[in-house]
Amino acid sequence: MSKRYRDTASLIAELQPDAPLNCLCIERLREHVEGFVKGFPGTVAYAVKANPAEEMLAAVCEAGISAFDVASLYEISLLRKIKPDALLLYDNPVKARHEIDAAYREYAVRNFALDDARELQKIHEVIGSDSTVELAVRFNVGNSSAIYDLGKKFGTNSKTAAELLGQVARLGYRPALTFHPGSQCTRADAYNEHIAAAARIAAEAGATIDSLNVGGGFPTVYPNSGAPTIQQFFSEIEQQFLQSFPAGNVELRCEPGRALVDPSVSVLTRVKHRRELAVVFLNDGIYGSFMEQLLSRVELPTRVFRGGEPLQGPEELFTVFGPTCDSLDVFSYEVPLPTAIAEGDWIEFGEMGGYGSCSSTRFNGFETGDYVFVENGFVY
Ligand SMILES: Cc1ncc(COP(=O)(O)O)c(C=O)c1O
Repeated sequence: MSKRYRDTASLIAELQPDAPLNCLCIERLREHVEGFVKGFPGTVAYAVKANPAEEMLAAVCEAGISAFDVASLYEISLLRKIKPDALLLYDNPVKARHEIDAAYREYAVRNFALDDARELQKIHEVIGSDSTVELAVRFNVGNSSAIYDLGKKFGTNSKTAAELLGQVARLGYRPALTFHPGSQCTRADAYNEHIAAAARIAAEAGATIDSLNVGGGFPTVYPNSGAPTIQQFFSEIEQQFLQSFPAGNVELRCEPGRALVDPSVSVLTRVKHRRELAVVFLNDGIYGSFMEQLLSRVELPTRVFRGGEPLQGPEELFTVFGPTCDSLDVFSYEVPLPTAIAEGDWIEFGEMGGYGSCSSTRFNGFETGDYVFVENGFVY
């Protein structure tokens, strides 16, 4: 069981940690989960890929989530252990035959996504006919203004989606539709365009869908990115959904990752070295907890501690290097830090719950941190 601390300052005072640490604030997580569950007009599934740490999954379950978007057999087995009766949406559109087989037979998964005819054929050949199985056709209708345009990899166009949906229904499965507007999507109308398209696709296929999954993509508010509030996203989605599916016989789902877990985790790093100029080397970097930072170029909220006390005073922009010997291991932006920062100080980065610890590597032998619990997490 990970240890619990009152806040980051008392954690530092007690532990003086040399290795990076993930600080998970259960109270903040609960607040965010409640915000989604109460505000979203349908079922909220957690996208496990954003953070599969067992501490996080246990906390997400405890906060009231019982549906999960899973992308691999590893994630499926993890969930079946932690919450055996969870609704698992196997929404990775491309799966190997052995993965479909194990998901269906060993783990009793009954919800799968696909986006082409070969995947549908594979699923049909592996599991045969089963009217309890829901197959969600993933489609994509355009640009979302998200940081990651997942449409480059997944999601078919409306015409093919309608053909696939018709085949799904004819094969006796429960037809469904799904999309993902791209991660860190800052435009609520990207969801609306897709919801309206879903209604057209279902009509063209002549199929009544069981569910529409609007994916994840809900944005985190980083210091360099503004976005409408989550409530604005929810009310626009609700309006469009009621307009597009007025009969009330379609279950609405979403599967957020980043926005659900980001605010509940901060990563506490330590300064290994300060050069004379505004340059610091940390014990964690791009090959560790901050891979996403390099890819997405989001800027992270930051605060600095010396001993158990916050370090304040005039700031300047620093080049921040990670611990490996690779020159790519550098933050994509210059980080504002106190001019006085020195070897041995700690830098805490907020909004790190999603795509932080899960995408870290052991490159050069450096490992990212364990999880500890803090009662008062980093709010910026
Ligand atoms: C199918 C699917 N659902 C949900 C998510 C979670 O997205 P986000 O973290 O942007 O909410 C992803 C992310 O890649 C995804 O691929």
